[in-house]
Amino acid sequence: MKVRFSAERPSGSFALALPISGEDMLTERLGSLDEAGRTLAARAAEAQRFEREAGAIAESFIVDGDSARRLLLVGLGGKRDEEALFERVGGALAAHLLTSGEKTLVVDLSGIEASGEEAAKIAFGAAARSWRYDIYRTKLSAKAKPTLEEIVIVGGGADAEEKWADKSALLEGIFLTRELVTEPANIIYPESFVERCRKSMEGLGVEIEALDEQQMAELGMNALLGVSLGSAKPPRLLVMRWNGGEPGKKPVVFVGKGVTFDTGGISIKPAAGMEAMKWDMGGAGAVAGAMKAIAGRKAKANVIGICGLVENMPDGKAQRPGDVVTSMSGQTIEVINTDAEGRLVLCDAMTWAQKTYKPDVLVDLATLTGAMLIALGHEFAGMFTNDDGLAVQLADAGLKTGDKLWRQPLGAAYDKLIDSPIADIKNVGPREAGSITAAQFLQRFVDDGVKWAHLDIAGTVWSGKAGSLYDKGATGFGVALLDRFIAANHEG
Ligand code: BES
Ligand code: MN
Ligand code: ZN
Repeated sequence: MKVRFSAERPSGSFALALPISGEDMLTERLGSLDEAGRTLAARAAEAQRFEREAGAIAESFIVDGDSARRLLLVGLGGKRDEEALFERVGGALAAHLLTSGEKTLVVDLSGIEASGEEAAKIAFGAAARSWRYDIYRTKLSAKAKPTLEEIVIVGGGADAEEKWADKSALLEGIFLTRELVTEPANIIYPESFVERCRKSMEGLGVEIEALDEQQMAELGMNALLGVSLGSAKPPRLLVMRWNGGEPGKKPVVFVGKGVTFDTGGISIKPAAGMEAMKWDMGGAGAVAGAMKAIAGRKAKANVIGICGLVENMPDGKAQRPGDVVTSMSGQTIEVINTDAEGRLVLCDAMTWAQKTYKPDVLVDLATLTGAMLIALGHEFAGMFTNDDGLAVQLADAGLKTGDKLWRQPLGAAYDKLIDSPIADIKNVGPREAGSITAAQFLQRFVDDGVKWAHLDIAGTVWSGKAGSLYDKGATGFGVALLDRFIAANHEG
């Protein structure tokens, strides 16, 4: 999507959108139209029961010179203070026009005293909502193809361009995440995940490195490698470093679960819906996208993104239920269920991250448990943390970006549930509290003094229906959250 900010409406053919709040005088908002246009628009609003609800649209066509123009009245709702309002409005307009035949959308903010931030938010929402991944559709009819190419925001604050620059970097990060999540597992597997990230972040100044199977074996990452045993695709540990902060300052570390396909392994999953497990790398996808966003806006912080990349397959070489593996931390793990593989991947990635970078703050993201979906549905991701301050910072970043988090409990009584009769720990507890015991498992691999949060994003990576900022499919969850978390707490 091309985005432009301008003081005046362009000439030529475009759809015109006029945002209007509950308090605005309709006649004033339509002041730029002639009398016939005002009558048409007012009647269309009434006929379509348009009540200026946030994101609601009333459509009409008015005569403009010697042609007709599509006019959209778009609601701003009652109050202007909602953080996501203008993004939502941009998203609604884009969803409405994406395949409408219109190529250009002009949103005229003149008269509503919109700031540059608000103007940039409309553009962000429109561009975010317009993202699609059609590369495998060779037979899409002309009518089903997107037509909207450009959005021009007229009359926003003078600093709109500047505000847009950061949001555009964020969008690029979100788009990378959505692409990684959307791609099928025959295309994105550990090696190709690394290569896709390298290409995508070229020239941004992110240092990228990947450990291969042999290097991981030498480091003793047998928990991670055990998951990978059944796969023909070799595993990788992807490391992305952004050194935008003071030299020598400890980095914030993000760790992502990157199971590029999760069959369950020998504890194989049922066939119905298994294709969804192509997005079991959503945590790694979010970490990669966040690194791109953070580097793209040249954040003044040191941030490291680490992705544990493996494929979980059943095979003659696959690990078995009951196997005991020694993790890099030295702790032994009884693998009761090979489908509880995410924690096995993360524990070694987290141990390596802490040994290598000695962070004060470690945040992991993972599509870790189906139980998380049962608990919170698709609205909130679960947050587990050993630090109340970190909980507040993350929850706040979540509220402000729409990547919402809800804190879940940790505790010794839950921790006891994963004691093993043969090893230090087993990889599953009872059916109850499945998301919490998964988090307890990870906590056993957190070093003393490290502020750690685990985000279980199993319910938010993929959406069965369109949201205000995404179409159905990959949401890009976590990128805006991590970017905002860094901006608000680790810069300056
Ligand atoms: N990747 C899944 C969790 C998942 C399920 C994510 C559905 C998104 C949607 C994870 O590896 C898994 O299989 N977890 C098991 C754990 C169980 C064996 C303790 C689960 O949730 O059933
Ligand atoms: Mn699994
Ligand atoms: Zn999994």
